[in-house]
Amino acid sequence: MTTENTVYQGDAMALLRDLADESVDLIIADPPYHLDKDREFGDGAFFESRDDWLAWCKLWLQEAKRVLKASGNLFVYAIHHHSCFLQSYLYEIGLVYRRQIIWHYENGWSKYRNGPACHYEPILWFAKRNNSTFHVIREPYKSEARLRHAITKNGKIWKPHPDGRQAGDVWRFPTLAGRRFAAERTDHPTQKPLALSRRLVEHFSNPGELVLVPFVGSGSECVAAVECGRRFVGAEINPAYVEIALQRISGASPQLFQIRAKDAYG
Ligand SMILES: C[S@@+](CC[C@H](N)C(=O)[O-])C[C@H]1O[C@@H](n2cnc3c(N)ncnc32)[C@H](O)[C@@H]1O
Repeated sequence: MTTENTVYQGDAMALLRDLADESVDLIIADPPYHLDKDREFGDGAFFESRDDWLAWCKLWLQEAKRVLKASGNLFVYAIHHHSCFLQSYLYEIGLVYRRQIIWHYENGWSKYRNGPACHYEPILWFAKRNNSTFHVIREPYKSEARLRHAITKNGKIWKPHPDGRQAGDVWRFPTLAGRRFAAERTDHPTQKPLALSRRLVEHFSNPGELVLVPFVGSGSECVAAVECGRRFVGAEINPAYVEIALQRISGASPQLFQIRAKDAYG
């Protein structure tokens, strides 16, 4: 029996196996990427070969599919080197491709000297059907001029949406590098920004729903779930990170959020 709003210290597979079929509304999986950096996570998180890493990913992805509701969403952070392997497996197990989100940032520190600096990470979005839960994301219009003059198309006058234009699938959120983000940053080596985590929770699930975070790390996605009024359950194999996550989660509280029912789709 799993208890909600809990971070389990241990293997994600154990938590996944404990969850009932079709019991989760949103899964945000940010697993080890099969990079050297995974060594920093400690025992059990580093795979010597890509085949071993992929075989392990297939196990937890199958379980993720089993526990996901028909209306739910699965997001998998996947570094550009290896995202193709995960994407093709997600097709293979019969999940429906929704989109590849590009998390774009320009403030990352790049080690690459033999090619361009890396300014993005792909986030794979899959579901069980193509009208899984989605609340439109809006952002400010780019052109003020466009808003000043009426636009007529096919005899109809276009009016700007009061909440801004519909956002696309390239999401700009800075990484937590640098002094600007010192207050948010923890000792976790691959902590994701809260703003990005909130976007996933707020626009791809409904208030009160259950968010599964199989690889909690510093707890960004769990904090986002609390702030957006969702329930969560998570697992983290490294006890030091469980401590960090629990501290952050205990300081989080529900915030007002702005999704309007008429923007709901699914
Ligand atoms: C990429 S990080 C997640 C970072 C998280 N999104 C955040 O914002 O802090 C992946 C995490 O998975 C943990 N991990 C690795 N193998 C695991 C396993 N089998 N079960 C649970 N957690 C695991 C690592 O210790 C690491 O903290």
